[in-house]
Amino acid sequence: MIASEPAAVATAAPAKPTTKPACPNFSSGPCKKHPGYDLALALGDAPLGRSHRSAAGMAKITEALEMTHKLLGIPDGYRVAIVPGSDTGAIEMAMWSMLGPLPVDVCYWESFGKGWLDDIVKQLRLDVPVEAITADYGQLPDLTKTSGDHDIVFTWNGTTSGVKCVDGAEWIADDRKGLTICDATSAVFAMDMPWEKLDVTTYSWQKVLGGEAAHGMLILSPRAVARLESYVPPWPLPKVFRMTKGGKLDEKLFKGAVINTVSMLCVEDYIDALLWVEFSGGLAPILERSRANLAALEAFVDRNEWAHFLASDPASRSNTSVCLVLDTDKDKVKAMVKLLADEGVAYDIGSYRDAPAGLRIWCGATVDAADVAALAEWIEWAYATLA
Ligand SMILES: Cc1ncc(COP(=O)(O)O)c(C=O)c1O
Repeated sequence: MIASEPAAVATAAPAKPTTKPACPNFSSGPCKKHPGYDLALALGDAPLGRSHRSAAGMAKITEALEMTHKLLGIPDGYRVAIVPGSDTGAIEMAMWSMLGPLPVDVCYWESFGKGWLDDIVKQLRLDVPVEAITADYGQLPDLTKTSGDHDIVFTWNGTTSGVKCVDGAEWIADDRKGLTICDATSAVFAMDMPWEKLDVTTYSWQKVLGGEAAHGMLILSPRAVARLESYVPPWPLPKVFRMTKGGKLDEKLFKGAVINTVSMLCVEDYIDALLWVEFSGGLAPILERSRANLAALEAFVDRNEWAHFLASDPASRSNTSVCLVLDTDKDKVKAMVKLLADEGVAYDIGSYRDAPAGLRIWCGATVDAADVAALAEWIEWAYATLA
């Protein structure tokens, strides 16, 4: 080497971190339980073995509905119900009950949204035009291409691409004629939901609140109710999809008289999660926790030129299902995911099967930012360690 030549900068592989995340659960659903979760404390008051239609059972279901309404700041006049079949059940129920009278714009940018389009086109087979407004993984489509004269079906946060709708949803007209049907399962309790723009909103308990699976949440605006009371689809509706009786909304469904049996254990667990939100100071600090988790991964991406967000626009970067792509091949990503699981550092962080190879790290409110920061150091170590 000539004396004046700069010495090659050897980047030392990072040492194996000594601090593991306190909780290695970074799955995108079911998600980590909330901090301080205690099985006995959370579930001790569940009316086990009692009918969900007893006064005790109904009181619990009503408490869950009322707390949801209050904590989410859902406007008066909107209805909230627990329905069968998790988020999928809730969104299918809405689509099968309400679609048909107007053309439909379906916006999707990852696999779940594509699934709703497929159901509309291949199963519902509507007589009206259906337009798909789409973008590849990592992008948001041009949502302004939707029409206020059409019904619009979309996903608020694309769980498998880590791309979410931009705050405010300005593209949805206030004076729209159609309904907006929004699958918000990985968004509610983590993102600001502009309720006035949403006619049907669905989510499930096992995502942002770390609750249990199998129960769906359905939130209807007065306009959605008006559609149910003015339109009868030409196809038969199974009992689990039915929200009306004699042409009128079945109001009892929104007051705790669920369509079929719920798990009182799961309801209790959901109430426990809602109490955690309440004790944390309400929705705003909960949203902040999720944003802080994303910030920990933004710092990680900033310091590692081999790591990138799949979401191309920071404004639509998800703060729950954070999807990363790495400058390496998919076998190494797979090996990293396995190594981190073997080390007990992170479980279930491989990207969704249909998405580009990479990592998907759940950053919802129940996850602690210190755990995300600790995980980031282990990812750096795993990347350097595996050839
Ligand atoms: C955007 C989106 N929609 C729907 C679903 C399905 O949810 P569920 O299993 O609660 O029906 C998921 C699950 O990950 C999702 O991320």
